[in-house]
Parts: sequence; structure tokens; C-alpha cells
Amino acid sequence: MGGLGVNIDHIATLRQARRGRFPEPVFAAGICEIAGCDSIVCHLREDRRHIQDKDVYLLKSSVRRLNLEMAVNEGIVKIALDVCPAQVTLVPEKREELTTEGGLDVSGNLDRIKQTTDRFHEKGIVVSLFIDPDFKQIDASKSVGADAIEIHTGKYADIFEEHQESLWYEEYEKIVKSAEYAMSTGLKVHAGHGLDYRNIYPILSIQQIQEFNIGYSIICKAVFIGLHNAVKEMVSIIKHLPK
Ligand code: PXP
Repeated sequence: MGGLGVNIDHIATLRQARRGRFPEPVFAAGICEIAGCDSIVCHLREDRRHIQDKDVYLLKSSVRRLNLEMAVNEGIVKIALDVCPAQVTLVPEKREELTTEGGLDVSGNLDRIKQTTDRFHEKGIVVSLFIDPDFKQIDASKSVGADAIEIHTGKYADIFEEHQESLWYEEYEKIVKSAEYAMSTGLKVHAGHGLDYRNIYPILSIQQIQEFNIGYSIICKAVFIGLHNAVKEMVSIIKHLPK
């Protein structure tokens, strides 16, 4: 059975909308841990659109296990080496994208990714590479010395929305084959991006996957599970305060 890493970037997105102090990502992380997740994931982006440097330090000192998503960018690498999270997940990053699009091109950047992986290993940090379900990228990930790959499930998740098994099955099979192949090379296998309360079921049957990293669908669900109580509380304050 795989573990769950909860990505809390969207809590920081909400906070940054007002540039204030609330909602506090580290507070959300505590709730996620109490609810039973195995790690907290956050992405320190180059443009700092959600998670800020101080969040990463605070999370490191507060949570049981921090998985820091990041681009192979020297400024961010230096922060990550200083913070020393349990794990880093290296992702590609474009400033104009809404979220991470596509996997890391490990085979096209072997030297850079190997040097970065070595620097993290010197500090005892586990290195996972976020890649598309592609054997060439798996071989490259193995050759740079990564500990794990995270298979990008975004395309599968997008196609799953079409509700036709014939459409998403092809993409799903790529994930199955990649998970089997990666594990046969000795890499650990994680999965993430776009996973939700429905499309996770087929992915759960892939025995090789040891970690699922999920953010958006959990935060969206939290809004609707929590909205009723939040409104009730305000109604009760407004209607019951003596005039
Ligand atoms: N894994 C990686 C590498 C990601 O970049 C993201 C998005 O930040 C996720 C998992 C979580 O994706 P989602 O928010 O769609 O669940």
C-alpha cells in the first residue's frame, strides 16, 4: 500500500491572494498530518507565487516528513540544501504555466541533474525525479543516481475526465509498464498530478507505486466539506449576538 503526500501549495495561493498571514500553510500541514498523511509536499517556485522561503523553513521544522518540489535552479537548490528536507522532487518549471506541465527531461540534461542529485545525496536527501511514463526517462533517471521517480499522471487524469475507458486505458498502460520497468531497475516509484477521488482507483492497483502526491483535488474537496460549517458559524455569530 502506498503512502500519501499532501501538496499544500494551494493554501499558500489563498494566502497570497491577500498577501496576509492567513490561511497559514504550516497550520494546514498539521491538519493533514493529524488526518494521517505520510508527508507534506510543497513547491518553492522561482516566481514565489504561492509558497515562500519562510514557509519551507517553517514546514521543515514542524512536519514529520517534508518533500520539497523544485526546479533545478541554483538559487532554489541552495535553499533546499540549507533546509535539508527528507526528500526533493525535481520538476521542470516554466513561469507562464499554471501548474507543472510535462515531466522533467532527464535524458536531455544528464550532467546537470546528476550533479544536483549528488549534492543532495551528500546531505542525505532522497531525490525523486518527476517524469513522464517513458522508458528513456526512466533509464536516464537511473543513470543519474536518483532514488525514485514520480510518474506524471496528469495526462491520464485529463483523459479520465472523458469517462471512456477506451480513451484513458492507453495512457494508464504506459503508467503500469513504466512503474514495472522502473522498479525492475531498482528505482522507487511514486505518482502524482491530477489525481482525484475517482481517477485514483485504477492507479491504486499498480503495486509498484509507493507514494501518491496529491494537492488540488484534496484542497477542492476541503472547500466543499468545510463551507457548510464555515457559513453556519458566521450565521450563528450574526444572528445570535444580542443587539
Ligand atoms: N506531484 C508533482 C511533481 C507536482 O508538480 C504536483 C503539482 O504541484 C503534484 C504532484 C500535485 O498535483 P495536483 O495538485 O494536481 O494533485
